[in-house]
Amino acid sequence: MRTLEKILIDKKISCKSVWFMRQAGRYLPEFRKIRSQNQNFINLCLNSKLSTELTLQPINRYDLDSAIIFSDILLVPYALGQDVKFEKGIGPILENFKIDNFLSVKKESFNKSLSQVYEAISLTRKKLDKNKSLISFVGAPWTLLTYMLKINKDNNFNFEKIKEIKKIDIILDNLIKFLSFHIQNQIEAGADVVQIFDSWAGLLPSEGLEKFCFEQNLRLVTFCKNKKIPVICFPKGIKDNYIKFNNFVKPDGLNLDPEIDPKWAKDNLRGVALQGGLDPKILLGPEDKVFVEAKKYLDIFKDVPYIFNLGHGLVPETNPDLVKKLVKFYRSY
Ligand code: CP3
Repeated sequence: MRTLEKILIDKKISCKSVWFMRQAGRYLPEFRKIRSQNQNFINLCLNSKLSTELTLQPINRYDLDSAIIFSDILLVPYALGQDVKFEKGIGPILENFKIDNFLSVKKESFNKSLSQVYEAISLTRKKLDKNKSLISFVGAPWTLLTYMLKINKDNNFNFEKIKEIKKIDIILDNLIKFLSFHIQNQIEAGADVVQIFDSWAGLLPSEGLEKFCFEQNLRLVTFCKNKKIPVICFPKGIKDNYIKFNNFVKPDGLNLDPEIDPKWAKDNLRGVALQGGLDPKILLGPEDKVFVEAKKYLDIFKDVPYIFNLGHGLVPETNPDLVKKLVKFYRSY
């Protein structure tokens, strides 16, 4: 078994494993080159040859234990009939949600829309060293809804209104159904692990956390456990509710965000492999501080199952050479 799965399943402390969120991304010149020739981001994700190449770029550069498939969480709303555009400097913009379209998509058409993702996974799995894990991922329902229904901090979103959307439970059920297909398809294509990104969990008021975050993550984690698929959750921004999340959802792995004090996490989050935490913005500052911070995480987590990673994705301004030094530092620790 590969180190990532050993840590997640057997909770082996002696195993060491490292990968980074957004390890394939704009901070790499070889990524920017391909990106500049492919203006349409969705089409780039749906080009199995190119997405395989992008997935392997960080693996060719660094001594990492895992690759994460180059794709996006917004491909699921896309395959469920909602067009997605990526505007420079703004981020993703989805066309207006139309519930009838959303509920009418059939499994066959969904699978067909995303077939290139599955093809990329099987191509990557063939090219990737057998000792390295291939990570697949999905967005959690709440985080997908924030994009699908244009919920964000700036448009002073009203949680009461969301609760009142008459068909919210039907929408959630349909998302869970297709996210489960997407997980299953990715695993059948050759992925080893799934990470569930709930990047906007921190937007939820406390009375919405259980229904929109915990329960939906639990449904996906239960699906994974029934299929023996190792699963890592990332409920970003929920502060000390990480404890409730862990007790409620019980994933194999839990990614920490930079707000979570690592000592607190070690004392309070039990029975789970912890991952990440280090603030990716640290990598924009002085080098010595990067290693001091990395050492802090490694010292604290040295006697619990821990996967070295970040508290969010690498940012575009990151110097790729510093990432190399960080991996070396980790290896020599
Ligand atoms: O290397 C990897 O981590 C794998 C690839 C990956 C991407 N998106 C590629 C990508 C992963 C795991 C994601 C997940 C994702 N996508 C999340 C969850 C993690 C997180 O960042 O919170 C979310 C919320 C999205 C939605 C999304 N996709 C946003 C908000 C953006 C624009 C902002 C940004 O960070 O660039 C994207 C575009 C995107 N997805 C890029 C990449 C490499 C940048 C594309 C570009 O402009 O060149």
